[in-house]
Parts: sequence; C-alpha cells; structure tokens
Amino acid sequence: MSTQAIFTQTTYIIAAALFILSLKWLSAVPTARRGVIAGEIGMILAIAGTLLLPQIVSYKWIILTLLIGSAIGIPIAYLMPMTHVPQRTALSHSFGGLAVGLVGTAKYYLWNQHDPERLTPFIMAVLCFEVLLGFLTFTGSLMAFGKLQELMPTRPIVYRGQNFVNLSVLAIAVAIGVYLTINPAQIGLFPIFIALALAFGVMLILPIGGADMPTVIALLNSYAGISASAMGFVLQNKLLIIAGALDGSSGFILSIIMCKAMNRSFTNVLFGAFGQVSPQALKTEERTVRSATPEEAADILLAASSVAIIPGYGMAVAQAQHKVRELFDQLTRRGIDVKFGIHPVAGRMPGHMNVLLAEADIPYDRLLEMEDINSELPHTDVALVIGANDVVNPAAKHDKNSPIYGMPIIEADRARTVMVIKRSMNPGFAGIENELYYMDKTLMLFGDAKAYLGELVKVIGQEK
Ligand code: TAP
Repeated sequence: MSTQAIFTQTTYIIAAALFILSLKWLSAVPTARRGVIAGEIGMILAIAGTLLLPQIVSYKWIILTLLIGSAIGIPIAYLMPMTHVPQRTALSHSFGGLAVGLVGTAKYYLWNQHDPERLTPFIMAVLCFEVLLGFLTFTGSLMAFGKLQELMPTRPIVYRGQNFVNLSVLAIAVAIGVYLTINPAQIGLFPIFIALALAFGVMLILPIGGADMPTVIALLNSYAGISASAMGFVLQNKLLIIAGALDGSSGFILSIIMCKAMNRSFTNVLFGAFGQVSPQALKTEERTVRSATPEEAADILLAASSVAIIPGYGMAVAQAQHKVRELFDQLTRRGIDVKFGIHPVAGRMPGHMNVLLAEADIPYDRLLEMEDINSELPHTDVALVIGANDVVNPAAKHDKNSPIYGMPIIEADRARTVMVIKRSMNPGFAGIENELYYMDKTLMLFGDAKAYLGELVKVIGQEK
C-alpha cells in the first residue's frame, strides 16, 4: 500500500470514529458543542483524505465546485433565521440527494462505456438503489422546502386513488431498476428510471401537509444517508458507507421520536394528509378570556414560590430568550424556584427550545423534559407559557375530534395559576383553538413575547 493510501485510510478511520462520537455527544446538551466540533473535524479529515486519493484527476474542477458550493452555502447559513432551519435543512438534503444521484448516473454511463465488467449485478443493484433514493430525495426535499417556505400551498394536495398512483410509479421504477441490474447495457432505460425517481419524490410530498413536514424532512434526511451509503458500495469507499449509515439511521430514529411526540404513525405521516384544517377545528366560539397587565403579572410571579416556564414557537419568533434569562435571574435571586418545561416538538425543529435557552445561558439542570415537568406541575404555583400553544393544549388529552388528539402535552392546565404570553387569540401550528386560555385560572398576557417580558423584567426590577 502506498504512503498516500495509508494516509487516506488512517484519516478515514479517525473520521469514522469522530462521526460516531459526534452523534453520541450531540445527544446531550452539555456535550453538544463538542459533538459539533468532532463532526466538523471528522468531515475535514474525510475530505482531506479523499483529495489525496490517486483517482482524483482534476483539482481544477474540485476547487471551482467548492467555490460555487461555498458561495451558495455560506449565505444560506448566515441569512436564514433560526426559525427557518427546517427549510434550510430540506434544501441541503436536496443538494445531497442530487449529488448522490448524479454520481451514480455518471458512474453508470462511464463504466458502461469504458469498463462494463465493473457493472456486476451487485454494483448495479446498489447503483440503482442509490440513484432512485438520491433523485427522489432531491425533488422530495425541494418540495418540502417549497411548502415550508410557503412558496407553494402548505396544505396536503390529494386526489382519489393517489396512493395507488404513487405506489404504481414506485413499482415501475423498481421494476426498471431490477431489469437494469440484470441487463446493465440497456442504456435507454436509465433516463426513464431517473425521471420516475424524480417524479416519485414530488408525488410523495404532495399529499403531506405543512404540519408533518419537519418529520418528513427527518425521513428524507434518512433517505439521503442511505443513498450515500449505497454510493459508498458503488465507489468502494468505506467511510461513505459508515457515514451514510450513521446519517440514515439517526434520521430514521429522529423521525420516530418526532412521530411519537406528535402521536402520529409513519403511515399516517406519509399517507394521512394531516394538515387539512377541518371546518370544525376552525370553529371559534364567543368566549371571554381574562388578561393582565405586566404589573399584575409581576405581582403574581413574586408571590409564587415555584414557577414553570413553558416556551414555544412564539419565544423563537420574538427572540425573547435573553429576556427570559433576565426574568429567570430576577426570580431565582428572590428565592423562587424556576424550572423550564421542554416539549420535544415545541417550536419548529427538534431541540429548538434547548438551542435558544442554551444561547441565553440558562443552566441545563433547570430544563426538564415533558414527563418530568408534568409530574411537578400540579404542585407548581405558576405556569408561565411563553409563545407556546399546541404543546399545552388540553384538547390533546380528551377531545377525540381534535387533530392533535393523543399528542402528549405539557400539562400547564394543572398548575395553580396559568399565564400565557402571546400576541392575540390566534391559533398555533395546528390551527385550532386552545381551551387553556378560557380557564378560570388562566390570565392572558397579550403582547410580543420579547416586549412583554421586557416590561415584566422592568416592573420586577423596580419592586423592592
Ligand atoms: P404553536 O402551537 O405553533 O404556537 C405558537 C404561538 O406563538 C402562536 O399561538 C402565536 O400566537 C405565538 N406567537 C407567535 N409569535 C409570537 C411573538 N412574537 N410573541 C409572542 N407570541 C408569539 O407553537 P408550539 O406550542 O411551540 O407548538 C409547536 C407546533 O409545531 C406543534 O403543533 C408541533 O406539532 C408543530 N411541529 C413542531 C415540530 C418540531 S420538531 N418542533 C415539527 C413539526 C411540527 P399569536 O400569533 O397570538 O402571538
């Protein structure tokens, strides 16, 4: 083995270990930063090792494409706000899927022309699998991006016999893939195979509503990983096989966690057309709510001995995390026990609340998962809901007609007093009313979360 090859293999082994450690470290808040750094170093080593491979023929093209990729990637990373991370992720998956699909296509044509012996049945099978998944991930992720960015209707687009049509397209593509595996020389069939994969990606996402899109993105992430792993077999690159498998399995586990947190099954997400708001769900009744001024809210908080803060998407929109930190400091300084209840799908992406609260340096040990805060809420004086709606909606527990029925919630309604900061009576993501707001023990604190908390902090600061 040449020195170059030994160097490449060594970087691959270290990179693979770093990817595994990265995933492990990313799964806990205190070690998450270390996880990101490990992943980055792993990726740099993987790229450096690959660039030294003797098969690399043109650095000129690699540098050019690197510049084009960076020119697209860096602005996306800097310009897209945190609340748009799901669509940003969808966009990067689509690029990943496209790259995988194109590499598979290039290899197919290249080997067919110059080295047909390499297209063994095994290589053809993984190549077809790679191309199918890669291209369907490309168009599927672009569709997911379009829906989340509201460039196209977010509601499910459904028609009769849709599942039959979709599955037929997939079945034809698979049949062509099998035929090509046995007869790789049938070059004419390959473009049809690609077209079917591209079409299936679009058709797969059409019936899925915006509400399920983040789960679908996690699933598409998993597809992109599996297709990259298949590409590793085609290119005989062990690191790609490992990294793709890690990506594929972690994306799959994440989508299972999200499905559980929303009480949705996989088949429901993929075929259920959730997100069509039923007329009943939109029905609003003339009911009154009680609201309170920052002065009144401050008095209630200062009289409490325990406060549970339940943040949601509105805190992210308002970027109110630093004001939350100030409130936390003021209350704890006065001996009030303040904890945070984190719902797994609060916000718009997994870990959304954790990231924001970590940014504001809220101590990790104050953040309680849903089950833990729920056991404390019946003994808690005040539940302060900040821009959360669906994740505290009691209808999920008892209203069988509610679209969120069965979704586990943070039981803010069980605290002695409930205060909710939001701007209006508008519904949240699921588009439904929240009976929590109409309870006798609930006070609505109307206003932008950052502005309202700013007032609250000012008033508390003035109190002796
Ligand atoms: P939502 O139910 O979406 O409610 C957010 C609330 O924040 C809204 O009612 C809104 O009311 C309020 N708000 C918006 N901007 C605000 C501002 N500047 N200041 C104060 N309040 C503001 O959020 P949630 O409770 O976090 O639930 C998340 C939802 O997203 C769930 O339905 C979940 O299933 C879904 N979802 C989440 C994920 C992940 S992974 N997190 C993935 C898929 C789906 P106003 O307009 O009246 O202010």
